[in-house]
Amino acid sequence: MPPLLETERLILRPYTEADIDSAFEVFEGHPDVWRFDPGYARTREQRAGLIRGLIRSNEEDGEGTLAITLRDSGQFIGQAGLQLYILPWEPFATPEVELYYKLGRAFWGQGYAAEACRALIDFAFGRMRLLRLVTVTQPDNRYSLRLLQRLGMSLAPAPDPWKPAVIGVLLNPRLRLG
Ligand SMILES: CC(C)(COP(=O)(O)OP(=O)(O)OC[C@H]1O[C@@H](n2cnc3c(N)ncnc32)[C@H](O)[C@@H]1OP(=O)(O)O)[C@@H](O)C(=O)NCCC(=O)NCCS
Repeated sequence: MPPLLETERLILRPYTEADIDSAFEVFEGHPDVWRFDPGYARTREQRAGLIRGLIRSNEEDGEGTLAITLRDSGQFIGQAGLQLYILPWEPFATPEVELYYKLGRAFWGQGYAAEACRALIDFAFGRMRLLRLVTVTQPDNRYSLRLLQRLGMSLAPAPDPWKPAVIGVLLNPRLRLG
């Protein structure tokens, strides 16, 4: 994971302890944000524990989740990241890298998620030279599905026992067939 990614309107950077209260408000403050993942509102202690874990893993192995902040004000608006992921579904068992993302409700509808994801995709396909990225989302999470389509992902229904989830796959455009 890079220490920092900059886009036109955003800075994606490692979490710090100072983000805990903002993250709790942004992620637990509106049911639309936790409805599909994890499906309930975390307590402040749970959110703090998660963020401390992310800070540790970022320091130890550089893997993990970045806080998304507005470039102009530094305001915390969400998070996005890349994580190693084994799709445990027959007939697949390939190690994959999953792209994931979450914004506070007040920051939807402004293109911030796509902007953050594109920065991570460029990093994953450029610096990390990954062959592909995957995502997993729910079929009724229409904002997430629209985002995946905007990012150019191919979508397919997940096999049992993970139905009705949808898997998104994005190939590195450097892969040229034929
Ligand atoms: C998934 C999620 C990040 C998508 O957020 P989003 O706001 O729809 O996505 P973006 O930030 O890319 O914004 C895109 C929208 O902003 C609009 N927009 C406005 N100004 C824009 C600009 N300057 N640039 C680009 N798009 C802009 C786009 O037209 C688009 O609207 P549309 O979908 O109605 O066409 C958000 O719904 C979320 O955080 N959900 C909760 C967490 C979650 O479920 N995560 C996925 C778990 S698998």
